[in-house]
Amino acid sequence: MDVLLCCFCVLLLLASATSAASERCVRQGKAAYSPSLSPVPHHGSSGACGYGAMAAEINGGFLAAGGPRQHRGGLGCGRCFQMRCRDAKLCSSGGVRVVLTDFHRSNRTDFLLAGPAFAALAKPGMAQELNRLDALSVEYKRIPCEYKEKNLSIRVEEASDKTRGNLVVKLLYQGGQTDILAVDVAPVGSSAEWRFMTRVYGPVWSTPRAPAGPLQFRAVVTGGYDGKWVWADQEVLPADWRPGQVYDTGVRIADVARDGCRGCAATAAGAAMDDWK
Ligand SMILES: *[C@@H]1O[C@H](CO)[C@@H](O)[C@H](O)[C@H]1NC(C)=O
Ligand SMILES: *[C@@H]1O[C@H](CO)[C@@H](O)[C@H](O)[C@H]1NC(C)=O
Repeated sequence: MDVLLCCFCVLLLLASATSAASERCVRQGKAAYSPSLSPVPHHGSSGACGYGAMAAEINGGFLAAGGPRQHRGGLGCGRCFQMRCRDAKLCSSGGVRVVLTDFHRSNRTDFLLAGPAFAALAKPGMAQELNRLDALSVEYKRIPCEYKEKNLSIRVEEASDKTRGNLVVKLLYQGGQTDILAVDVAPVGSSAEWRFMTRVYGPVWSTPRAPAGPLQFRAVVTGGYDGKWVWADQEVLPADWRPGQVYDTGVRIADVARDGCRGCAATAAGAAMDDWK
């Protein structure tokens, strides 16, 4: 029953994900500087991503807050973007690579860039000039996330309670250019007992019916028209898992969306992408 239900969910999820296909196109937008991004998730709203202080470790502090269109109610959390501003006098041509870790509601910008990310848009010596501008015109595209030293990891959140079977996890270091649309958990050695988890917000998933450990995980990832299971076929959480601990899944997600960028390759922005390394 669970299996059938789950397959149905996956189909629904995939159907809803296809509408996001064009995100891999180069887009025009605005970026502005923010002295800091809020590390705290806003529970009960579509909220920020909840990476907390860990955000700074995720991408060397190159972080961005996205507006509704980038944050997408949390689905956009952990996505990676490359962006550059177009002013040849002030801006470097390579631009900057950022990870989306937060949400903002500002009307005048698509992205708020924190820490070193905004300065990195500038040519050497031009960061001060750039800081004076209100909201920069930028072009940006979604790119695969690359974590050279990290596998996909699972942080057990403080809201977890083993005696009640409550398990809340946060997914960290999600590589590639795909989204995680479903997460299941099962006891190691018993794949008949997969239980689905529900997205709480952004990268945080939970189940009130966690099996006793040790536990294995699998996830559906998709980017465009197809999805696939990624299965950490080994013990991920030990029987004595603890809130606050981070556990390595031993897998890496490196998939790049297959649907590519049809429809935008022919535009001027598509052409500009070729010289953008
Ligand atoms: C955003 O724009 C709307 C109307 O365009 C305006 O009413 C609202 O105050 C703006 N919000 C902010 C935070 O500037
Ligand atoms: C990633 O997982 C593999 C096993 O699949 C393991 O050998 C490797 O040490 C892990 N890498 C890191 C950085 O933990």
